[in-house]
Amino acid sequence: MNVVIVQNDPAFGDVSRNIEDVSLMLSKRKDPKPDLVVLSELFASGYQFTSVAEAHALSEKAVGPDAGPTVAFMKALSRETGGLVVGGFPCQKNGRVTNAAAVFRNGELVTVYDKVHLFDAENRWFSPGEGPLCLVDTPFGPMGVMICFDWLFPEVARSLALSGAMFIAHPANWVLPFGPSGMILRSVENRIFTMTANRVGTEERGGLAPLTYIGQSQVLSPSGEILARAPRETAAILEVSFDPAVAKTKTVASESDAFRQRRPDLYHL
Ligand code: ACM
Repeated sequence: MNVVIVQNDPAFGDVSRNIEDVSLMLSKRKDPKPDLVVLSELFASGYQFTSVAEAHALSEKAVGPDAGPTVAFMKALSRETGGLVVGGFPCQKNGRVTNAAAVFRNGELVTVYDKVHLFDAENRWFSPGEGPLCLVDTPFGPMGVMICFDWLFPEVARSLALSGAMFIAHPANWVLPFGPSGMILRSVENRIFTMTANRVGTEERGGLAPLTYIGQSQVLSPSGEILARAPRETAAILEVSFDPAVAKTKTVASESDAFRQRRPDLYHL
């Protein structure tokens, strides 16, 4: 499976410029037909909203004749590659706005996942997702999707992996320093591939505390190997190949298995 991860540097609110930037970055990829492209959380709108009105103004419908430009871009990209595209956008839904990720396959919308665990000020502009967690059938095996802060709740990746996910696409806008290392555990404890597309740059808007995004987009193997990691401060594109079937075995040592040895009878859920 050939994957492309895009780490971009969006300017808040400049959707067309941000899409053009991502498009230009993608035009430099070596593989014209990657099986999966992962874009960052809110990759075309920017992240630091300052009001509900702003979130509404930049939100997009995912389907229908008035679907928005970010959604249209992902759809066209997946038609061009013939593969999967996962990327974040502010989604307009029943008068509310969610922090969402769309999944496209070969030009068709497969699903929209609304972030369940909103981070910090996001709680002021976005409505949390109501679930279910996002598991998508793909030709390469089941794919889980989670968005940024969802990673801190180990139950998300665990539930996806127990439901069969062999890899997780993870659009992010990481600002806290421990995300890249923390995700190594999510990969190892579940014996799955994880792919985080983060962003870089700084936003300081509306009198809110500045946010500096820490880059380090990465692809991790089920044994926690860093197959690729982007720089902290500059936009970058990662191209990685892996065999998702490796994630079918949950063996840690010859007599230890990360799934068979679980003791849910002892856990507080
Ligand atoms: C985050 O969830 N964007 C930190």
